[in-house]
Amino acid sequence: MKNLNAKITAFGKYVPEKVLDNFDFEEMVDTTDKWIRDRTGIVERHIAADDEASSDMGSKAFADMQERFDVDPEEIDLILVATITPDMFFPSTAALIQDNIGAKNAWGFDLSAACSGFVFALENARRFIESGDYKKVLVFGTEKMSAITDYEDRSTCVLFGDAGTCVLLEPTEDEEGVLDSIVKMDGMGKDFLYMKGGGSRNPASHETVDKKMHYIYQNGRPVFKYAVNNMVDAGTELIERNGVSNQDLSLFIPHQANKRIIDACASRLDLDDDQVMINIDKYGNTTAATIPLGIIDAYDNSRLDKNDLALLTAFGGGFTWGAILLKWSIEQ
Ligand code: UT7
Repeated sequence: MKNLNAKITAFGKYVPEKVLDNFDFEEMVDTTDKWIRDRTGIVERHIAADDEASSDMGSKAFADMQERFDVDPEEIDLILVATITPDMFFPSTAALIQDNIGAKNAWGFDLSAACSGFVFALENARRFIESGDYKKVLVFGTEKMSAITDYEDRSTCVLFGDAGTCVLLEPTEDEEGVLDSIVKMDGMGKDFLYMKGGGSRNPASHETVDKKMHYIYQNGRPVFKYAVNNMVDAGTELIERNGVSNQDLSLFIPHQANKRIIDACASRLDLDDDQVMINIDKYGNTTAATIPLGIIDAYDNSRLDKNDLALLTAFGGGFTWGAILLKWSIEQ
């Protein structure tokens, strides 16, 4: 049997209608549009409706995929959902999406790797495809970050947004799709970026609510440093071991946590501005949805065409990080 690769053959996205811009935050906390733009590159972010959960946004992203491509939900074998904002502990968001979209022949599961969630899920999905046993795998990155954000904490509330995304992976015998990957984790990062309450260590109680333990906590400065160093190291290793020169890369699509992190990575990877995908200004940090939003916006803006080489890099809570070298498969 020939070696199989996994290629992306369809995609879809959903961003909620409601938008919070930086001036809205000036009314909510002690901040300014200038601070947010200068320190993060964010201008606005989309916020889900009260009755809209991560599975709803993922399902709407699948509806967008169906409008763009001919995808039959009954042909889906497997659903992987990268999210740290599942609708509930159980059942999984994958099960809820499966029911919503009518993928009645699929099984699936959720995967928790924070902002590296999409890269971790893509790595899993491609291994299922490469096994030859799976023909159609849906990967979702869907997050309602507003559900775990403290809108009284200026150091985190300005950063995050909500979105749902999905891509479909299918096998190919050609040298395209996911060419190589690096995925890493170092649990020493647990003290820098976490949500403390609600799990088995600190089950939900009046006390955990009073202490705001159900919100994101981040110590931004060290996270910034680890993010740049690890994304650059993973990207560099991937480029070097595949004999690719920086100039061969059509597009660098990094996790969108902070424009200064993206600029620092691009500069250390020696990339030109036109090789770098930045859309953090429109969405903020949507955690597991940032990279697929980058892929889809790049395609929609004619910045990705068949056979283009793209480098994806991510870094997030855990710590988790990784990089994927992707040869894009869909013509404009
Ligand atoms: O996505 C997963 C991984 N996450 C990341 O990669 C995020 C990494 N970290 C970052 O992006 C940045 O560290 C932040 C954007 C979170 C913060 O930017 P910073 O330049 O590192 O600021 P800082 O935390 O060092 O704070 C500098 C000052 C502080 O004031 P003092 O102590 O110098 O008086 C903060 O209180 O800025 C203050 N500050 C703000 N001021 C106005 C923090 N947030 C705000 C705000 N508006 N929203």
